[in-house]
Amino acid sequence: MILSPSKTVATDHALLLWQDTYRHRVDAAVQAALSDLEKTAYAPLLEAMRYAALGGKRWRALLLYATVASLDPDDTLKADAVADAPAAALELIHAYSLVHDDLPCMDNDAMRRGKPSCHIRFGETVALLAGDALQSAAFGLVAKSAMTDPAKACAILADAIGVGGMAGGQGIDMNASVHGQPRGNIDEALNALETMHRMKTGALIRASMALGMLCVPSPQCKPIARQNLMMFGDRLGLAFQIADDILDATASSDTLGKTAGKDEAQHKVTYVSLLGLEGAKRQLNLMKDELAALTQSLGGAALMLRALADTMLNRAQF
Ligand code: IPE
Ligand code: IPE
Ligand code: MG
Ligand code: MG
Ligand code: MG
Repeated sequence: MILSPSKTVATDHALLLWQDTYRHRVDAAVQAALSDLEKTAYAPLLEAMRYAALGGKRWRALLLYATVASLDPDDTLKADAVADAPAAALELIHAYSLVHDDLPCMDNDAMRRGKPSCHIRFGETVALLAGDALQSAAFGLVAKSAMTDPAKACAILADAIGVGGMAGGQGIDMNASVHGQPRGNIDEALNALETMHRMKTGALIRASMALGMLCVPSPQCKPIARQNLMMFGDRLGLAFQIADDILDATASSDTLGKTAGKDEAQHKVTYVSLLGLEGAKRQLNLMKDELAALTQSLGGAALMLRALADTMLNRAQF
């Protein structure tokens, strides 16, 4: 189903239907990508990869599809078909990041997406390797895709998840949890936290939108639209991790599908630990206001993006 985002008004039901439709679409693309690896694969490792790649809310893939929808509202350029490979790639990378995030040497979480974490189910060695192989499968998908510039897309992904992005941000997160809450100037502490969130979570969210832009021919994406989309991705990425930190402190493990209350138990530096729950909620609301203002500049074609940001930031469960 292509629900034209060029229509500036759509019912909540239609927007949720759009999300469901594309969630199924990326699920199918993920399954197909893993099936393609079957011929060469070491079966136990592939089983762990499938297990880890299953489920999840698929926000990053949906963001890519919604970016494409904002640039090719009626799918006249057939960009949706181009988008399937990078959408699946984003979810494979995200799945890898969660497998490694849950390992005993990282957050040591036994539950993910309502099931035993990958290392609990398959053991640490297989989980570690499944993460590695999910990551390389993702780069293979993007490199072989029909995107306008697959090499550029690979470079964007590499930067987003490398030492200046997700991996670096995860390193800062782990280091901060060992050394405890920063002392002294609160503004400096907040700046450092913002940088960590932008790296560990925001970078892949920004990349989801950047990859979406590479699914349509470049004249379709004017520099001003590009700039506004990237700014939107930046604010959304930061707000998303703030919401995750708030949920960790307020929701139950059953609702989240992962162990709740872990951030406090592991002395993580989060918006909640620095500003308190109410302060973190105020910060999230400020980000929501900024996002709402930004969507005005994106115009009516960004209907799906606006709806997606709303769903992502107002969610109460996994
Ligand atoms: C959780 O991400 C990890 C963070 C980066 C905050 P999601 O909430 O998108 O996880 P899934 O994919 O839906 O399980
Ligand atoms: C994880 O942040 C960010 C990643 C890059 C995976 P969290 O450690 O807060 O994510 P959850 O709460 O375990 O999903
Ligand atoms: Mg973590
Ligand atoms: Mg974690
Ligand atoms: Mg968390």
